[in-house]
Amino acid sequence: MLNSFGEGTTMGQHVAAYYQVLQELATEAVSGDTLRDTLATMAKKTASAMKSSGCSVLLFDAASRRLLHAVSHGLSDWYLRKGFLDADKSLGDTLEGKVVTVLDAATDPRVQYREMAQRQGIASMVSVPLRQRGSIIGALRVYTREHRHFSTDDIAFLTAVAGLAAVAVENAQLRELEAARDAMFSQPDVPRLAQDLIRPISFSHPSEEEFARLLDFYKIQWMYEPRSFPLEWDGDKVKEMFTPDFYLPELDLYVELTTMKQELIREKTRKLRRLKELYPEVNIKLLTKRDYHRLLAKYGYGPLGRAEVNVERILLSAPQIQRRVRQLGKAISGDYAGRSPLLIGILKGVVCFMPDLMRNISLPVSVDFMAISYYGDQETESVRIIKDLDRSIAGLDVIMVEDIVDTGMTLNYVLHYLAARNPASLEVCTLLDKRVRRLVDVPLKYIGFEVPDEFVVGYGLDYNGEFRNLPFIGIVTPSPTEAK
Ligand code: PRP
Repeated sequence: MLNSFGEGTTMGQHVAAYYQVLQELATEAVSGDTLRDTLATMAKKTASAMKSSGCSVLLFDAASRRLLHAVSHGLSDWYLRKGFLDADKSLGDTLEGKVVTVLDAATDPRVQYREMAQRQGIASMVSVPLRQRGSIIGALRVYTREHRHFSTDDIAFLTAVAGLAAVAVENAQLRELEAARDAMFSQPDVPRLAQDLIRPISFSHPSEEEFARLLDFYKIQWMYEPRSFPLEWDGDKVKEMFTPDFYLPELDLYVELTTMKQELIREKTRKLRRLKELYPEVNIKLLTKRDYHRLLAKYGYGPLGRAEVNVERILLSAPQIQRRVRQLGKAISGDYAGRSPLLIGILKGVVCFMPDLMRNISLPVSVDFMAISYYGDQETESVRIIKDLDRSIAGLDVIMVEDIVDTGMTLNYVLHYLAARNPASLEVCTLLDKRVRRLVDVPLKYIGFEVPDEFVVGYGLDYNGEFRNLPFIGIVTPSPTEAK
């Protein structure tokens, strides 16, 4: 067993080395580099100053009560993707603000993945809290290959590094707020979560980067390849693994994006099937090349984005729509009897549905409209309200009226926005529900029609700004060359 000084190092030399590194890291903490780069330098220098095999900075995600590996040094990929770190089970006392030292990681019950730690060759570890104005925002951890008693100098050094790491996080958050304030029309509200400021250095495919941007736009938290799932073993050796591209923690959903040729999808589907068998609790969605192109086309992007289209056939005729709208109006009138709901529509798709619906409600209703920014619009980095409600909705019975719910990202954002304004009740009435394409689950109380995964236009719905004035809902198809 070693103490922390190692062979031939005196205590004085050792402390001097710590001072030297702290001085370097203090400069690093307030540097203009990205948060990832700053923390990565901290992890590397800390690991080396401690003569340890690895170091990582973990950030606490309060919503899921998980610790997320922001950066790490000296740990293998498979160890980092071993599974989620439950903040209460993984050296949980760190969250109470305590320094936790572990002499034997293979047997100490405070270590969540003991067997993995052993395989990684971790004998001892120490975890120091990262504090930001009284709250614990994460942990700094150091791992050693040999069993080690951490000295008071080690702990003092790590506590100082953790303080600097927290300063770096806050510095990055302030820089973001400043940038948001400088941008035209921006609505800076709260600092972004620290983990959102950590971005993968490189995506393995441009489509992944685009998808990440889309999620950012709708303020949906994501993690890139945070976990690998073993699928096949040879004895106790893992023979096959599957690492989904994204994990969306608020939705507890993994997304695998595959832009590969349709023929190759079979292999991926096999892996997904296996994953579902082995890990039935895991919620995963596969977005194929076709799904992905359709998603982009919705925002005017991708190979289909600007395609010439024709109305191929009528999906819902004008009388069919009118009949259903009458039924919806009747249902709302019954459910809200004695009350005066406020109908809120999101422009522009709702321009036909809203007036027809309100004329079929036999109650005193009022209406208001909102408009929100659009992903295809290069001017904005994230979704925001470009036309807000005219008056307060506190204490009112609100019904959100939508023409279509597709991925659910628009509605998810708007519902959060409205719920924070304390309405007495908040429900959704949508004419169309394209459920097969849902990414974010949103509660829909009134649904006109469930529609298949087709481009639909008419009765307010557009394709690149056209077709809104059709009295029916039709399916458009891109011209054959562009449809591939
Ligand atoms: C449509 C529709 C919804 C949104 C639903 O609006 O009106 O608001 O898409 O899609 P989602 O569930 O994938 O978020 P669009 O952005 O086309 O603008 P528009 O209403 O002006 O046509």
